[in-house]
Amino acid sequence: MKNFKQKDGILKIGDINVLTLVKEYATPLYVYDVEIIRKQYESLKHSIPKEVKIFYAIKANPNLSICSFLRSLGAGAEIASSGELYLALKAGFEGKDIIFNGPGKTDEDIQYAIQNNVLLINIESMDELSRLNTIAKTEERIIKVCLRINPIHVVTSVKMQTGGGSQKFGIDEENIETVIQLALESEWVELVGIHIYVGSQILDQEVLLENIANTLHIACRAAKHFTLKYINFGGGLGVPYNDYEPEFNVEHFAKGLTTLINKVSQEHDLSQTQFFLEPGRFLVSESGIFLTKVLSVKESRGKRYAIIDGGINHAFLPIRMNKQYPTAIANKMREPNEHAITLGGPLCTSMDVFTTEVKLPNIALNDIISIFNSGAYGFSASMLYFLSGTMPAEIIVQNGKSFIARQRGRKEDFLLNCDEEMKCRNLS
Ligand SMILES: Cc1ncc(COP(=O)(O)O)c(C=O)c1O
Repeated sequence: MKNFKQKDGILKIGDINVLTLVKEYATPLYVYDVEIIRKQYESLKHSIPKEVKIFYAIKANPNLSICSFLRSLGAGAEIASSGELYLALKAGFEGKDIIFNGPGKTDEDIQYAIQNNVLLINIESMDELSRLNTIAKTEERIIKVCLRINPIHVVTSVKMQTGGGSQKFGIDEENIETVIQLALESEWVELVGIHIYVGSQILDQEVLLENIANTLHIACRAAKHFTLKYINFGGGLGVPYNDYEPEFNVEHFAKGLTTLINKVSQEHDLSQTQFFLEPGRFLVSESGIFLTKVLSVKESRGKRYAIIDGGINHAFLPIRMNKQYPTAIANKMREPNEHAITLGGPLCTSMDVFTTEVKLPNIALNDIISIFNSGAYGFSASMLYFLSGTMPAEIIVQNGKSFIARQRGRKEDFLLNCDEEMKCRNLS
């Protein structure tokens, strides 16, 4: 909540009274303050060495306005599906600023990426490499690839781990020489680098640095066989979700990264090498608040419940991660948090419960609950059409102004892609 102020007990975002936004756009509602995204991006960009380029992991928040804002700040785009590539292009990213990840790319995905001249594709398996070579041949274009390597182990373990041990991601480190050989023999492939992403929500910069040191070590082993143009350290920079979690220390991280790169450069010629980071959560999480209205307050056998109009179809990750996201009542910011309440969404499933017995001010009908840190993996990681609930709207605020960045969903959306014949087919 550190980024937000209140006036007369009412929460403000981007200098706007939240109740004004609720009146204008209704709930449930995602609101993003893009100045917070700027602050996060610039704090990172201005600290890290100039040879390190930032690619925004679009999966964290694929809203077109946000993607295009990050592009305007100078970020590239990290994408992991044709849909994200389509969005990235619509947001104004050029192919040369896009890298394509993902353990399960279809032939169509690969073809679409080649046709749009993405900078490179990260290969996650031997058969994907062969498939890519065949598709590149058909397209008559040589495609640059990096190898996503799954290291033998992560140096220090990470909670949301995507590397080390047995994984569905990447190619096991033990097989690195074999896959390099295969890539070098593939006529339509140009092998340009190594990619390792060990996991998300890393709060201790030392943990990330130790894993980056390991990436550099593996990359140098690979460099005996080809010219390393790119080393991609992945994303993973975390944000605190409560007062007990530390801030990710960007300055220390940047200093450590500079030291690591300088040290390796003394032993290996990395003068032709560019380095990539692909953060998602760190750039956008703290910019977003999910606003939802209290529809009902009740007691069941000694426990108090508030039923809100936002559910797991709008914000699933707080429940999936079993994380207590910072929560407040936007219209009671000055009242003490001394009443335990369980916040349940409107859906007919017991899964749809946000927080159990969170301490908030005394809650009443029509209060506006604000769930902070909702800018990353909020909208994008939700079960958007679950139980035929409609999509929430998304709003951008900047310097006292607000505008709509995604219209609220409508009931009619549920017939999208159903033509008249499908709608009317009489099955008996
Ligand atoms: C390959 C890859 N890169 C980057 C990211 C972004 O991670 P984070 O949001 O933790 O920075 C992800 C997230 O899943 C990913 O899969």
